[in-house]
Amino acid sequence: METTQTVAALRGLLARRRAEGASVGLVPTMGYLHAGHQELIRRAGEECDEVVTTIFVNSLQFAAGEDLDQYPRDPAGDEAKAAGAGSTILFAPPPAEMYPNGADQVATSVSVAELAARMEGSSRPTHFAGVCTVVAKLFNLVGPCSAYFGEKDFQQLAIIRRMVEDLSFEVEVVGCPTVREADGLAMSSRNAYLTPEEREVAPVLRRALLHGAELIGEGQRSADHVRGEMAAVVEAAPLGTLDYVEVADPRSLLPVTNCDGPVRLFGAVQFGRARLIDNLGAEPPAHG
Ligand code: PAF
Repeated sequence: METTQTVAALRGLLARRRAEGASVGLVPTMGYLHAGHQELIRRAGEECDEVVTTIFVNSLQFAAGEDLDQYPRDPAGDEAKAAGAGSTILFAPPPAEMYPNGADQVATSVSVAELAARMEGSSRPTHFAGVCTVVAKLFNLVGPCSAYFGEKDFQQLAIIRRMVEDLSFEVEVVGCPTVREADGLAMSSRNAYLTPEEREVAPVLRRALLHGAELIGEGQRSADHVRGEMAAVVEAAPLGTLDYVEVADPRSLLPVTNCDGPVRLFGAVQFGRARLIDNLGAEPPAHG
């Protein structure tokens, strides 16, 4: 695996590999890699000749008072994990390489307002514009590629797909299933913030979503009823503060009234310093 910190070196490497006929896969990350990231890298390696893993803690997607400074970092571990999963290029730029005039001087912002307004966007109003801006920049740096994102961040995935469609990036966006711990907790770099007590309770979010999916599978059509049931599961747990649960259309991400087709269930819970999110697909019974 070749490691580079500069845009010029990354572009040079990719130009050489493309001249030899290589296809390119891109796995954008903020580092502190776990098995979920490694699965994205492995999948990219199965489908592409070169796999570029990027590691950049993007300040634009953190609001003041969020965890930018505490965000877990492990450059040496990340390098080993990326190489172990089959990455061929690691791009780990310092902030000045991505934002040469300073992040506060970036005047251009990419916003997919319609999809970013609800759920994560209502709790973190500037988050998705920061994500889209850096992802657009990475797409421009890497060029035509397949880009791999986890379904754990389902709203992010939908927003990036829409950005690619609206702005005609030559990028195929590939969504990959969420990788989970044995007890169902979705893998996330932020799980590192959980205390042992919080870690024990954290799978309650997944259980709430499974309960919602079960109700829908049994024929419950009222989305409000399902929201209430999912919220009750989280609220019965001894730790964790519910931010939201939602039953939404999987494409528009708009809340639904009736569960009479495929829907996506979403939730976010604050456990101390860790804000955890998760989601799950659900469908009514075939003959309901
Ligand atoms: O999902 C993430 O880790 C980040 O939002 C991303 C896509 C790497 C952009 O910084």
